[in-house]
Amino acid sequence: MKIDVITIFPEMFKSPFSQSIIKRAIEENYVELIIHDLRDYSLDKHNKVDDYPYGGGAGMVMKPEPFFRCIEDIGFDDNTEIIFMTPTGQQFNQQVCHEFTQKNHMILLCGHYEGVDQRVIDRFVTKELSIGDYVLTGGELPAMVVVDAVARVIPGVLRKEESYLKDSFQDGLLEHPHYTRPMEYCGMKVPDVLLSGNHGEIRKWRENKSVEITQKKRPDLVRTKKDL
Ligand code: ADE
Repeated sequence: MKIDVITIFPEMFKSPFSQSIIKRAIEENYVELIIHDLRDYSLDKHNKVDDYPYGGGAGMVMKPEPFFRCIEDIGFDDNTEIIFMTPTGQQFNQQVCHEFTQKNHMILLCGHYEGVDQRVIDRFVTKELSIGDYVLTGGELPAMVVVDAVARVIPGVLRKEESYLKDSFQDGLLEHPHYTRPMEYCGMKVPDVLLSGNHGEIRKWRENKSVEITQKKRPDLVRTKKDL
């Protein structure tokens, strides 16, 4: 999967993807991640990428030309998902994440200021995506969330022991609790069933805990599953 990110803060992407699982995914060529500095595509001698809004009002709008030039320079085809990160977009979730793995190319646009000139969206964008109902200072952190979540479910990225098949949301339920050594800590014991070696009973306990926790923390998920 090739992932291009267009941003005015390319430095922000350095550390998060040079560690752990995503670093490995890049090194092993499951993901080709290219960060583009939008200012490199500005036609202005001061590399300006924003301007005053037509119609007046507070705040600045990101200009169309740098985005047009950058996206056309990157190149795309019918299988490219061109995503604009915005709090007014469709809510990102695990299902959308899996849908993206069907694509071989994603371009993520990170917005700033009051927004991006609508012509960029009208010409190129195939999906507007939000990571939640709150407003961040820009689309960079949301883009990182999407890159991380998509990269880890690309087949081959996670090792068998890290498999996403037992992830929360994968089967519509939240995950059961986990315990490791010591068997007792600060007076709190690991549930006996997990020490029993009885795999059937352990599976049943985990399934029951999953349902119980989902009902308690996210009853909306249980309803969704029943309604299907
Ligand atoms: N840009 C600012 N806030 C955002 C959000 N919640 N999701 C996606 N992009 C954003």
